[in-house]
Amino acid sequence: MISPNSIDQLLNAAIIEDVVGDYVNLKRSGSRFKGNCPFHDEKTPSFTVTPTLGIYKCFGCQKGGNSIQFLMEIENLSFTESARLLAKRYSVDLVETNVGNKEEYEESQKLREGVQSINDFAIQFFADQLHTQEEGKNIALPYYRERGFTLETIKKWQLGYSPESWDAFYKAASKAGYKDEMLKSAGLIKQRDSDGSAYDLFRNRVIFPLIAVSGKVVGFAGRIMGKVENAPKYVNSPETELYKKSDFLFALYQAKNSIKKLDKVLLTEGYTDVITLHQSGIENAVASSGTALTPGQIKLIKRFTNNVTVIYDGDAAGIKASLRGIDLLLADDINVRVVPLPEGEDPDSYCKKLGPDGFKDYIQSVEKNFIFFKAELLLQFAQNDPIQKSEAIKDILQSVAFIKDTLKRTTLVKELERICDVKEEVLAQELGKLLRIGLVQDKKQLFADTKNVVNLFIDEPVVVALSDVHQEIAMIRTLLMNATKQFDENQTIFDFALTEYMADESIQFKDPFASKFMNELIKPDGTFEWPGVEYFIHHTDTEISSFVAGVFSNDHQLSPAFLDNMIYVKTEEDNYRDELISIFLNIRRTKIEEIILSEQFKLQQPEEQHDEILEYLDFLNTVKIDIANKLGNVVSRF
Ligand code: CTP
Ligand code: MN
Repeated sequence: MISPNSIDQLLNAAIIEDVVGDYVNLKRSGSRFKGNCPFHDEKTPSFTVTPTLGIYKCFGCQKGGNSIQFLMEIENLSFTESARLLAKRYSVDLVETNVGNKEEYEESQKLREGVQSINDFAIQFFADQLHTQEEGKNIALPYYRERGFTLETIKKWQLGYSPESWDAFYKAASKAGYKDEMLKSAGLIKQRDSDGSAYDLFRNRVIFPLIAVSGKVVGFAGRIMGKVENAPKYVNSPETELYKKSDFLFALYQAKNSIKKLDKVLLTEGYTDVITLHQSGIENAVASSGTALTPGQIKLIKRFTNNVTVIYDGDAAGIKASLRGIDLLLADDINVRVVPLPEGEDPDSYCKKLGPDGFKDYIQSVEKNFIFFKAELLLQFAQNDPIQKSEAIKDILQSVAFIKDTLKRTTLVKELERICDVKEEVLAQELGKLLRIGLVQDKKQLFADTKNVVNLFIDEPVVVALSDVHQEIAMIRTLLMNATKQFDENQTIFDFALTEYMADESIQFKDPFASKFMNELIKPDGTFEWPGVEYFIHHTDTEISSFVAGVFSNDHQLSPAFLDNMIYVKTEEDNYRDELISIFLNIRRTKIEEIILSEQFKLQQPEEQHDEILEYLDFLNTVKIDIANKLGNVVSRF
């Protein structure tokens, strides 16, 4: 355990805006800093840092705390690990006293620390082999030099060399006291099946250390120096306690300040691409290590910027294969641009060919929006074959459908009219179809997720005296008056309302008449169609016709409290769009309120799992706050 005194000392020494600033683009705002929360997705900053108190707080997801907690949260560290990391950074000596509990926890802690310690040893070992041993100086240094890496670059990236021997590293590490088990956990040695003897993972290769965004070395990549014939070009560390391939971006640690400053990241494929670009003064480049982008990598990028420029190697097949991964970026609201390279070139080779300034100019002049890039590429493949062309256009629109911002989509479709030589209306209509499919699937998933959590906790739901009826009536009124008007460029009010209604089972209406009304709209096969107002007014089932008449004649008075909360529903007639959104949000809010109440009730029962309930309540509150934010309401209001 770390003594409380040391913790005080540490937190006084730590500069919260620097600690957080490594992960979040902070902007000063009075005596505080603001930025986009790294713990949840948001467009408008609700994350604040208060230097005078040494704390951070997100008003969106409610996460908050001091510097130690921030590092714990963002780096997935234990309290001790996080405190130690900070202590190192701020040169504070921690006084630690030992407490012998939580064995399992300490076990994994030990493993992490053991692997880290070996990696720290290894990075030094490989560097020494390069700089101080004849073999490294004679073989590896010339290789680096031939590739155009300066000595400064080699030092900056802590590049190294693993000698040709089978066990040079193993021997050195053993001598330094590292146990076989730990060396295996670090992935740096392997065991022969035949006799169980150990040998080095990296032999006769130049070594690129893999540095995590925290600055810690988490693994290594070794490149073969000669021609790639019988051996793989790269050998990489396996996944370890510290290294998860899908959560790693090469060079993010070295690039993060430049990325923040320029508000843009250059995404390349290879280690050597990044190193050459940085050496040429282009310091906002990172590498995905040759694989398709993963959600984990995108999350990392989003901590620093929303602007990604992809510079992949210039071979058409490779580019085509990488298109899908890029859709993930679009879905995450990232602006994606592409810089195509001539066939056979990669950023490394082409930057060397054009020189630093030439390459920068090249990026500037050819960089283009990903959608246009994809459109031109696919249409070029399709040539003049009409079937292939329509497939290509569908594919392009599929990418457009990933973009959440309506305005961006509309602008893109306008431009695509020219590129695809297809009328804007036709494109918009196709896009509308894709969007609706996506919408239904999203919502179903969302509900499936929530439902599982709910089922976990509620055996017998407590019936709470909160009613959705006002919202239900309001929605039906909106339908009766505006069903056929456009909700947006792709769908009518009726389409939007029914898609929402169908996608979320929890919206099932409670009022028996309202529910009966909704059932009239849905055909047995699950499709829906607006039958017109007369259909209801003239309905032979008098329950329906009189209900509709009642709604029309304002028979169902809306309660003042409800109207109070319906901030969008003022008197303007054409506010039906916002009204509808507001109604759905209100219905969800009521739903959440109900669950919160029933959970709070359960908290009073001694036999319940209180920790889990509290955690669940926390989650429910974030959902509630999110809805409240969307409604533009203040939380205190409900
Ligand atoms: N890669 C890998 N294993 C391989 C080949 C490639 O892990 N056998 C990954 C590496 O991260 C590499 C990236 O894919 O950096 C891109 O591959 P490639 O373009 O072949 O390598 P470069 O890094 O460009 O190396 P070089 O410039 O030396 O050709
Ligand atoms: Mn390459």
